Amino acid sequence: MSKRILLIVGGGIAAYKSLDLVRRLRERGMSVRAVLTKAGAEFVTPLSLAGLTGQEVHQELFSLTAEARMGHIELSRDADLVVIAPATADLLAKAAQGHADDLASTLLLATDKRILAAPSMNLRMWLHPATQRNVATLRGDGMLFVGPGDGAMACGEFGPGRLSEPLEIVAAIEAALAGDTTIPLPGAQPGPLAGRRVIVTSGPTHEPIDPVRYIANRSSGKQGHAIAQAAAGAGAEVVLVSGPVTVPDPAGVRCVHVETARQMLEAVEAALPADIYVGAAAVADWRVGAAVVEKLKKGPSGPPTLGLVENPDILATVASHAKRPGLVVGFAAETEKVIDHAQAKLARKKCDLIVANDVSPATGVMGGDANTVHLVTGAGVETWPTLSKQDVAKRLVERLATLVKETGA
Ligand SMILES: Cc1cc2nc3c(=O)[nH]c(=O)nc-3n(C[C@H](O)[C@H](O)[C@H](O)COP(=O)(O)O)c2cc1C
Repeated sequence: MSKRILLIVGGGIAAYKSLDLVRRLRERGMSVRAVLTKAGAEFVTPLSLAGLTGQEVHQELFSLTAEARMGHIELSRDADLVVIAPATADLLAKAAQGHADDLASTLLLATDKRILAAPSMNLRMWLHPATQRNVATLRGDGMLFVGPGDGAMACGEFGPGRLSEPLEIVAAIEAALAGDTTIPLPGAQPGPLAGRRVIVTSGPTHEPIDPVRYIANRSSGKQGHAIAQAAAGAGAEVVLVSGPVTVPDPAGVRCVHVETARQMLEAVEAALPADIYVGAAAVADWRVGAAVVEKLKKGPSGPPTLGLVENPDILATVASHAKRPGLVVGFAAETEKVIDHAQAKLARKKCDLIVANDVSPATGVMGGDANTVHLVTGAGVETWPTLSKQDVAKRLVERLATLVKETGA
């Protein structure tokens, strides 16, 4: 079935690009219903949007005729994805605060679908701490973002704040639509983990070498994100602490974005207490000891020596924490003696379960869509067949739900 987009066009100078965006989406078989803010109508006409979308354009919250044809709540939900392009500083501020004083902001608050925002504004407006604070809040609430890009602006300045090009926005829309776009009501989902709180870590960490370089690993976040999604689907209240990844935030999950292992630990501790902790992130074991403020330069003295120091052990810290969750689950990504290493890790870190997998390049697990895991507990080892990462996640969440019930954790 063709995908339906609710496109909110804000009052920015780049609003004209929303017309091209509509064309590109329609070329791809999507249907687009447009909402134009009062300021947006200063930049593009409702007639252009109606002509290109082939549908009535919605502008007023208090419109007897429009409300009678399609109520504003229905309008906010009768789509697969809500897209704001251009997203003005004002619209982002309203959404971050939960305002609902016009049609666009009311729809953003009332929708049960994911929202993708394409910000566009003068660089000082974009870089202002108030806008950055609002964007961080909205990301935490699960809003997706594309751009803004860098470049020459209509105001004559140069820098970040340019609306992403229509085809970039189309790509972000397609990526968002590839996931589950419905946002479940927090805590209200029935399911085996209803009433439980789950913390999941996912993705790699980036450990800075200097202001532009970092140490990373090949973790994609696909497995950790799938676990967070499955736990939310099972009714849990989920906090996902994620390192830098390109997979979209799962729906119905509170996402905290971090870069380094130390930030990840801080975010996990801030999210405690919880009933279940699943450490699926590939946390860097080491970071560069000395913080380098300036970019390292090539020189006659040869390559620099990177003095590494150990990062905090997040799994071990959670497992021996004063607020220890009833169930602590770790992941062991190994390239040899997978089960031996996982058993040693289980004992060393004092966790309840280790999900061990072979991440040798030949397996294609890192970044791939499938996984072959072994569940290692004090009672023994259980090997699962190769499954999609979504199916591993669902099966693992079912097992965790049984374990919390059995152990009364
Ligand atoms: C010529 C002109 C261009 C503007 N361009 C932008 C812009 O690119 N981004 C932005 O955030 N606001 C821009 N503004 C300010 C918004 O139009 C203003 O904040 C408005 O209240 C936004 O309303 P809305 O968020 O409901 O669409 C512009 C204003 C004018 C007069």
